Amino acid sequence: MPESSASERVKAISNQLAPSLPPIVKVAPDGPRVAGKVVIITGANSPLGIGRASAHQYASNGAKAVYICDFDDTYLASHKAEINASYPDVDVHVRQFDAADEKAVKEVVDDALNRYGRLDVFFANAGVIGPNVLFTEADGEDFMETFRVNTLGPFLAAKYAAPAMRKTSPSKPTSSGSIILTASVAGIRSNAGATPYSASKAAVISLAQTMAFQLSGTAVRVNAICPGLIETGMTSIVFEAARARGTQGKIGQLNPLKRGGHADEIARVALFLGSDEASYVNGQAWAVDGGLSAGHPYVQNKLA
Ligand SMILES: NC(=O)c1ccc[n+]([C@@H]2O[C@H](COP(=O)([O-])OP(=O)(O)OC[C@H]3O[C@@H](n4cnc5c(N)ncnc54)[C@H](O)[C@@H]3O)[C@@H](O)[C@H]2O)c1
Repeated sequence: MPESSASERVKAISNQLAPSLPPIVKVAPDGPRVAGKVVIITGANSPLGIGRASAHQYASNGAKAVYICDFDDTYLASHKAEINASYPDVDVHVRQFDAADEKAVKEVVDDALNRYGRLDVFFANAGVIGPNVLFTEADGEDFMETFRVNTLGPFLAAKYAAPAMRKTSPSKPTSSGSIILTASVAGIRSNAGATPYSASKAAVISLAQTMAFQLSGTAVRVNAICPGLIETGMTSIVFEAARARGTQGKIGQLNPLKRGGHADEIARVALFLGSDEASYVNGQAWAVDGGLSAGHPYVQNKLA
């Protein structure tokens, strides 16, 4: 028997034993999860914050450049030094500006485009808690300031990031990008924050929904992350007070994981949303809250 027909018969027999399968369409590389991407993060100064933890995740997963931005620059240089020491191949840029300052937001986006010819991720994460009083006690100015930072900030980030992400260059031949807005479980329903804060975060969820549709066909995605109770600069007073009282075991008692969250638990979701792994995730509000927003209020041990 000629050699070729023998090998054809062996192939036919092995096909019968193990039928060949179609290749899996893979949407993301198996290597570093955000390799080569250019990332801007606001609200990155706070040592305990979600922004700093996210900068580390993007850097450790192969980002080309990470812009760490905040209006308070107390720790930004230290964050840069820390990231450079661990991930020397990542360009870290420090920028001090107000996340709701339109000119400054445009400038940082322009800088990324001019320097790298691309922008891939804008994580609009800066936020303030606003007046922590009953709505009948809150004044209009404080209400508007909460919206200025928490809602106008993400709006401006998306306004300038979206066209920048559509730009192509030799290093990025097709339009694509991920705009990630930090909302909150307070923006989903009541009892997780004061009225101005909650309303400002509900508006952020709406931004993600409407913008995702207005960017139809561009491969630029917009999503919101809704953290639950996370120990950061914003909430450390709650955690510290509980520790001082010896009631730290009660923190997070309303969620089924029965604990508060870590900034890194939000950062890893931001990493996923910023990566090509999330290429079909668009226009959504991602609750990262230990399960808190999955349930209705309940009396412990009374329900199954
Ligand atoms: N910690 C939580 O439990 C929790 C829950 C839900 C949502 N969030 C949201 O997460 C985001 C990050 O907050 P965090 O928890 O890391 O708190 P954080 O206070 O540790 O960090 C917030 C950062 O935003 C910066 N910032 C505030 N106003 C700014 C402005 N106008 N311009 C630029 N930077 C500004 C602050 O300087 C700070 O570095 C916020 O949008 C917050 O509303 C937090």
